[in-house]
Amino acid sequence: MPGAFARQVIAWQRSHGRHALPWQGTRDPYRVWLSEIMLQQTQVATVLVYYERFLQRFPDVQSLAAAAQDEVLALWSGLGYYSRARNLHRCAQAVVAEHGGRFPARSETLATLPGIGRSTAAAIAAFCFGERVAILDGNVKRVLTRVLGFDGDLAVAAQERALWERATALLPDSGIEAYTQGLMDLGATLCLARSPQCLLCPVSEGCTAAREGRPERYPVKTRKLKRSKREHLWLWLHWGERLWLVQRPDSGVWAGLWSLPEFDTADALGEASAGWPGEGEALPSFTHVLTHLDWTLHPRRWTLPAHTAAKRAAQIVSPWPSGRWFTLDEALGAGLPAPLRKLLLQPR
Ligand code: ADE
Repeated sequence: MPGAFARQVIAWQRSHGRHALPWQGTRDPYRVWLSEIMLQQTQVATVLVYYERFLQRFPDVQSLAAAAQDEVLALWSGLGYYSRARNLHRCAQAVVAEHGGRFPARSETLATLPGIGRSTAAAIAAFCFGERVAILDGNVKRVLTRVLGFDGDLAVAAQERALWERATALLPDSGIEAYTQGLMDLGATLCLARSPQCLLCPVSEGCTAAREGRPERYPVKTRKLKRSKREHLWLWLHWGERLWLVQRPDSGVWAGLWSLPEFDTADALGEASAGWPGEGEALPSFTHVLTHLDWTLHPRRWTLPAHTAAKRAAQIVSPWPSGRWFTLDEALGAGLPAPLRKLLLQPR
């Protein structure tokens, strides 16, 4: 069975898999690493645009390592999950400082670098260096649990370890590149979470879940995401041509990005703005949906008269020492959360 499964995956990848993606056809670990990090939480269609733009600005690991974090975040702006961008930057710096500017070739060493987990390390090592090593990202977990009829609870560490062992036992003796890509392609195109396309699948004959007729049963994972709600007012403060942005802390949602000052309640904003020159205006509220969180934001624009003295303006923004004034163009060139970019670009 192991031999047959891998052979089928490889043959199918060669005839039906994806071949024209920009990070394929290269063994440059910088390019492969960048694509794998971008693809971790983001679909191929979205990644394509960001990937090209990123490579134009940072064609190699040295240029990325030497960049300012703000510029890296700005190029990532809109891709979400910003800890990926900060780890990407730190990883580039580690490759330069600790590995002479060359990515290590072994998956075990790659996995010691910031932001590179076991599966990503394995993908890079397989694609770039032909290492015979298993990947196990979300898509591949789905494929393998179905094929194997593996119904252990993946929320339990020992079960996940067991699946890694089964994945390793299935590896082909040769053709690791096509096999690895084939598993990814199967998970992304046929072995879907809902309505899997078993009739088109090259491994359905040996697939336990297909035989049982209930592929959606797999993978089994009991721990449910606990969603929460959050609500804030967003202060969009204008002074002449400029607006006030604050840099968010290094952890949490939108870590390190430039955003608007937040208030818990309208009363808190009312108190803070009592006595300010100019006037406020409520803009339409919206809810930004994150993995664990529905975040409702109520933007309030406050326009200080252009002639407000610099000293008075400085006093008004003194509660946010991590901020500064930006022109609209400067703001759009900075690392902004996607909904803020959208808000700033809305015609008024
Ligand atoms: N998702 C993660 N890695 C990928 C790859 N190399 N090609 C397509 N989708 C992917």
